[in-house]
Amino acid sequence: MTDAKTDTTKPDPCSFVIFGVTGDLAHRLVMPALYNLAASNLLPDKFCVVGIARKAMSADELREGLLAGLKKFATRPVDDAIAERLLECVTSIEADPQDPASFDKMRDELDALEKRRETAGNRLFYLATPPDGFAPIARQLGRTGMLQENGAWRRLVVEKPFGTDLESAKKLNAELLEILTEHQIYRIDHYLGKETVQNILVLRFANGMFEPIWNRNHIDHVQITVDEKLGVGHRGSFYDATGALRDMVPNHLFQLLSLVAMEPPTRFDAHSVRAAKADVLAAIQLESETEALHNSVRGQYLGGTIGDTVIEDYHKTKDVANGSTTETYAALKLVIDNWRWAGVPFYLRTGKALGIKRTEVAIKFKQAPFAMFQGTPVEALAQNYLVIGVEPTEGIALQFNTKIPGPAVRIDGVEMKFRYKDYFKAEPSTGYETLIYDCMIGDNILFQRADSVEAGWRAVQPFLDAWANAGSDGLKSYKAGSEGPREADELMKRDGRAWRKLS
Ligand code: BG6
Repeated sequence: MTDAKTDTTKPDPCSFVIFGVTGDLAHRLVMPALYNLAASNLLPDKFCVVGIARKAMSADELREGLLAGLKKFATRPVDDAIAERLLECVTSIEADPQDPASFDKMRDELDALEKRRETAGNRLFYLATPPDGFAPIARQLGRTGMLQENGAWRRLVVEKPFGTDLESAKKLNAELLEILTEHQIYRIDHYLGKETVQNILVLRFANGMFEPIWNRNHIDHVQITVDEKLGVGHRGSFYDATGALRDMVPNHLFQLLSLVAMEPPTRFDAHSVRAAKADVLAAIQLESETEALHNSVRGQYLGGTIGDTVIEDYHKTKDVANGSTTETYAALKLVIDNWRWAGVPFYLRTGKALGIKRTEVAIKFKQAPFAMFQGTPVEALAQNYLVIGVEPTEGIALQFNTKIPGPAVRIDGVEMKFRYKDYFKAEPSTGYETLIYDCMIGDNILFQRADSVEAGWRAVQPFLDAWANAGSDGLKSYKAGSEGPREADELMKRDGRAWRKLS
């Protein structure tokens, strides 16, 4: 993504140290992504993967587990020779953040290993652990000097959630920034690993035709949708403490929003792009609790069927509290207080157990003054939408009106579609390859900076507070397999607008 980066640049020699190596994230995404990088010859020539285990585990045991995971989760057929070469780089070291002395031992073992492997002391620590592990692990790494950059680079990778509200996000950032400098921290939001999401920047800034109309003069409003079919399943305990808003909005939906709404960055580098994204998040109007209630809808799903799958009521899900008021659906209307977007609302919606899986950004252009087609009722005309599809179809569609062939002037809406898969052949990927590769080459353009994480939480905090204070008042229900609570339609209808139909 930077001008310096080409597909064939190999990262510096380094060790890739994984905390939480036996967990789901490491097996499901990190190792398959490393495998895909190995298959594309994009891993460093001198490389080692160090799995940190809390209890003693031999390198062979670890390799065996990782190979089984790879076979299960790889996105392409596993080639034995490539897998063997990757696993040959794997070793394990024992360390437990509850036992500080184990980190002193870990440092010595890591030093010795790196000498043997000639990885030049460059290290990437990937915290594939629950978030309460981030600060304690970073503290021990810092105390033992393992994060000090003396001629070699030292980086720390963490995954969402970065806090659970504004205060906890600030605390986590402050804790990490006591030990590391911002350029050493890579906060992953997996949405930025998606090609279509990265493409929003290219669409807007590598084409001359969109930018002149990308503003309040031509755009009526923007809709951002991340709808999921899956219910909460086995994640009851995590989800019940989290809810749709925390789980999806300040992170994934705001990544989409900031890319769509940001000002053009001065340069295509991490500093300029991240500053422009942080600026637009900071411009989201902060609402009072009353306004937040007025401009939002939250819902919880009731049982239903989606295809062949029967989904039970959310509140009957394992590990969900009795009488839980956690929302599984959230819709918000947000306003961005700047010149470009004054008067252009951004409507966001996301939910679980909905009838369709769809992630898209729909930009609705203002209606043309149809005075000259007097016989045509305006409602009969198609809306002008530019739709950026992220899932399930990756691509871009433009909806506009056209004349139906024939002697009479009759008008109908048509759609012009670009689909990635029609133009580009890409190997199926986990979406983590680019992110992991970028960590290794030191390009943090696709990672979240502390200020934008906090700006995101600041914007949703009024909704979190208002909903917590309202309790079950105002919590709507919707049937699994539906489009969400009908009150979400009201949110648009009262502004004379409607959600785009997703069928
Ligand atoms: C995760 C959330 O961050 O993103 C999940 O915790 C959600 O609840 C997932 O299902 C959605 O990701 P994607 O890539 O499937 O849209």
